[in-house]
Amino acid sequence: MTLQIAPSLLSADFARLGAQIEAVERGGADLLHLDVMDGHFVPNLTMGPMVARAVRRVTKLPIDVHLMVQEPDRFLDVFAEAGATMMSVHVEAAVHLQRTIAAIKALGCRAGAVLNPATPVVALEEIASDLDYVLVMSVNPGFGGQTFIPRSESKVREVRALLDDVGNAAPVEIDGGVDRHNIARVVAAGARMIVAGSAIFHAADPEAATRELKAAALAAVSAPA
Ligand code: DX5
Ligand code: ZN
Repeated sequence: MTLQIAPSLLSADFARLGAQIEAVERGGADLLHLDVMDGHFVPNLTMGPMVARAVRRVTKLPIDVHLMVQEPDRFLDVFAEAGATMMSVHVEAAVHLQRTIAAIKALGCRAGAVLNPATPVVALEEIASDLDYVLVMSVNPGFGGQTFIPRSESKVREVRALLDDVGNAAPVEIDGGVDRHNIARVVAAGARMIVAGSAIFHAADPEAATRELKAAALAAVSAPA
């Protein structure tokens, strides 16, 4: 895998979800990012396993479930059953993170850990070899359409270095405020799974926006360091 674009369905038009998924698929989306919020860990409520199941029925793309919930262990099996390909849990919400990561893998999904902007990379030190990916939040989770926090760029580099130190080639994912202006920089920093919500679904043409973001990201992968 070189680089993957993950449109975040949070910013999609839910009344036309099937058509919006088809559009980003045509634009070259590699994953569909599903933001699950519980109104406790983050101040918003979004979608649950029923939506994941509905999405699973209309696409073959991998489903990337981002769990912004307290006690994520309670929901792992229902999302696996609903068709999740990969699931990430917040370090701040998973008290027994090592066990949670193992549980996700046991369900047949790829397992990721997520860092909030205020959580240091060192929080992953003991678990770095167990992770299938790491998600760096570049906004505080809860809403689409927020502004990218600039410090996230160097944080991606730090996470990449930590994974490299333990010989883990797992990709770094970035989520929040990514658009055509900053995508090249986050890719240059080492991000290889790029989530984009409003930059895709609030564009006049989500298909074209997906294609353009992916082209910009791919150009940054191949650009000399
Ligand atoms: C925020 C979510 C993001 C969100 C990104 O809590 O985790 O996935 O949808 O949306 P944009 O790209 O608009 O910041
Ligand atoms: Zn997300």
